[in-house]
Amino acid sequence: MEIIKVKDMDELGRKAAEIVVDSIKEIENPVLGLATGSTPEKLYANLIDKCKAGEITFEQAVTFNLDEYVGLSNDDPQSYRYYMDHHLFNGIDIKKQNTHLLDGEAKDLEKECRSFEQLMKKTGEMDLQILGLGLNGHIAFNEPGTSFDARTHIVDLDDSTIEANSRFFEHKEDVPTQALTMGIGTIIEAKKILLLVQGEKKADILKKVLYGDVTEEVPASILQRHPNVVLVTDIDI
Ligand code: F6R
Repeated sequence: MEIIKVKDMDELGRKAAEIVVDSIKEIENPVLGLATGSTPEKLYANLIDKCKAGEITFEQAVTFNLDEYVGLSNDDPQSYRYYMDHHLFNGIDIKKQNTHLLDGEAKDLEKECRSFEQLMKKTGEMDLQILGLGLNGHIAFNEPGTSFDARTHIVDLDDSTIEANSRFFEHKEDVPTQALTMGIGTIIEAKKILLLVQGEKKADILKKVLYGDVTEEVPASILQRHPNVVLVTDIDI
């Protein structure tokens, strides 16, 4: 794993954007995996600037997001579709029909997960997957104990995840208790992974992820076995 140490969130955003641009600019039809949450916000702002400055185009890009809450509509400001439109897609030249998020309002959620997997397979290998890290070691919404082989599936969110994400909602009770998420088996097939981790409060879990046992109790520890991971972090490790 390549580790890039940065001094703060601003530098993390700039560095991560450089890596994204360098990783996909030579690829004719890049396939990108995207994350939501606080950590990639500056990355997306930098990508918008770079796209406007003509340094990168997303005209031929296809994206798949890691996860989506169950039960929120696309125009709900807490939905990940809304987040992606507002933090990235509306500011770049991507074709909206090439941006794929799981539909958390689908009538048949299991079928939705299967269709998402099929679409990813048809599209071809993921060139670059962006990941954040949960306080409990989750990647996407793969909570501790999830099989490393899992494909896209429905999850019951951990109390700790609901608590952590309640900062985006008015009341903790408003946080959905279920989500749809790419599985670890799906994520790990990406050719390259860009892991972004910011803030001292994630120092302990990041050390476990990097130097602890590879165990399903720490979902992100699987990244130790991936041949092409770049970590950008402001944490001393
Ligand atoms: C979001 C996602 C989550 C977050 C993680 C960290 O799409 O997949 O795994 O990356 O919960 O969230 P932040 O960046 O808000 O600390």
